[in-house]
Amino acid sequence: MKELKVFTTVKEMQAYAAAQHAAGKTIGLCPTMGALHEGHMTLMRAARKACDVVIASVFVNPVQFGPNEDYDKYPRQFPADCEKLQAEGVDAVFHPEPQEMYPEGYGTYITVENGITDVLCGARRPGHFRGVATVVTKLMNITRADKAFFGQKDAQQVAVVRRFVADLNLPVEVNMVPICREESGLARSSRNAYMSAEEKKAALVLSRSLRAARAAYEQGECRAEVLKKVTADELAKEPLAKIDYVDLYTYPALQATDNVTEPCLLAIAVYIGKTRLIDNIILG
Ligand code: PAF
Repeated sequence: MKELKVFTTVKEMQAYAAAQHAAGKTIGLCPTMGALHEGHMTLMRAARKACDVVIASVFVNPVQFGPNEDYDKYPRQFPADCEKLQAEGVDAVFHPEPQEMYPEGYGTYITVENGITDVLCGARRPGHFRGVATVVTKLMNITRADKAFFGQKDAQQVAVVRRFVADLNLPVEVNMVPICREESGLARSSRNAYMSAEEKKAALVLSRSLRAARAAYEQGECRAEVLKKVTADELAKEPLAKIDYVDLYTYPALQATDNVTEPCLLAIAVYIGKTRLIDNIILG
């Protein structure tokens, strides 16, 4: 089995990436914050299919967490992550320290200002997408990515990345990989590790509520208000669930709409105990 290369400095990572391009190879980037699970592996596999060289990044990006969020307790398990990446045949992993990415004097941030960061998680987590856009731009530059791979679970993040990649003329193809679910229906997430067995069972209500909405849509229901109500009513049946939002917007423009007449994102954020989970489906 080929060995996974580990880079912790920007200089080394860029030199490796430049050498791959010089050898005529294409680079696929899978940005992650680590605590890798099967969902991340679906990104690696998509990148492997589409590119000669696969680079994963493992970096818990401080700039995308709010002051009362879980930056400190976010699971960090780099040795186990490396084992998974190696077993998957990933070529290299970029794992910098925060000071390497944001050295003293750092002062440049990317903000997407066309409204798509004002809704859903953008509205609840001020500054979150500014942090994501900044780090993803840096990661694309550092790894010289030709293609980048993101999961649909963070569908708003994918819309934001597509927007700034187009706006800044970055030469990177952005790919969205379908949500990876456990057999139970629960969308895989590093944050699932925060939940007790009882909470994990309660969390199945997220995918159940979205399935109920999809069933209603497939039976001809197109009204956004009704589809949101079907979802919220199902969520309300679970006593451990506290709704943060249930919303429906056109996708990827994330414009409000009364009816599903074009692709639309039905997205939910729900607290199960102290754990905030997100999930979504695309209708239309
Ligand atoms: O989706 C994530 O894990 C993060 O937001 C990302 C894209 C790795 C940026 O830190």
